Amino acid sequence: MKSIKIILGAAVVISGMAGATALADGHLEGAIKARKAVMQLRAYSIGQLGAMAKGEVEYDAAAASAAANNLLALAKLDQSTMWPQGTDNASMPGKTRALPEIWSTYPAVVEKAKAMVVAAEAMAKVAGTDLASLQGAMGGVGGACGGCHKPFQAPQ
Ligand code: HEC
Repeated sequence: MKSIKIILGAAVVISGMAGATALADGHLEGAIKARKAVMQLRAYSIGQLGAMAKGEVEYDAAAASAAANNLLALAKLDQSTMWPQGTDNASMPGKTRALPEIWSTYPAVVEKAKAMVVAAEAMAKVAGTDLASLQGAMGGVGGACGGCHKPFQAPQ
């Protein structure tokens, strides 16, 4: 009887470990999905502002403010758990375009994130004023996206 218990015990440990590994992988993929979702929301918000800036969509102060405030909220989102070690494009090819430099040059990426907040704040202040003010703040937010993508996101 005793030996059966030990065998069963071992089986539980092994299946428990397999479960833990699956959980860890799921956790990493979940983090990648979450940060991509944040980026998609940023793209949606800046897309709305850009369409107005270019005259593709008629300027609307309320809609511009909403988009700019969302962009600011997204810039300020706490993403600290969305970028775990081991989720760069060398470790998880095909799953992410995040370059290893995010981690190897840390905290350089934090400076880019801060620049994003500054640019989004400037946009949020003026987006509801008038079209010219929105257009004036457009370069700043676009530059903040590109300023981080260039060093830290692999091209498609
Ligand atoms: C501080 C750095 C940083 C800033 C600022 C930043 N991004 Fe990103 N972005 C990244 C990284 C890194 C990735 C790659 C993420 C991945 O593949 O796991 C990415 C990915 C993306 C993607 C692709 C998402 C997907 O589904 O694969 C889009 C779209 C995007 N960013 C839009 C934006 C827009 C728009 C802005 C500006 C309003 C912005 N990003 C600002 C770092 C940044």
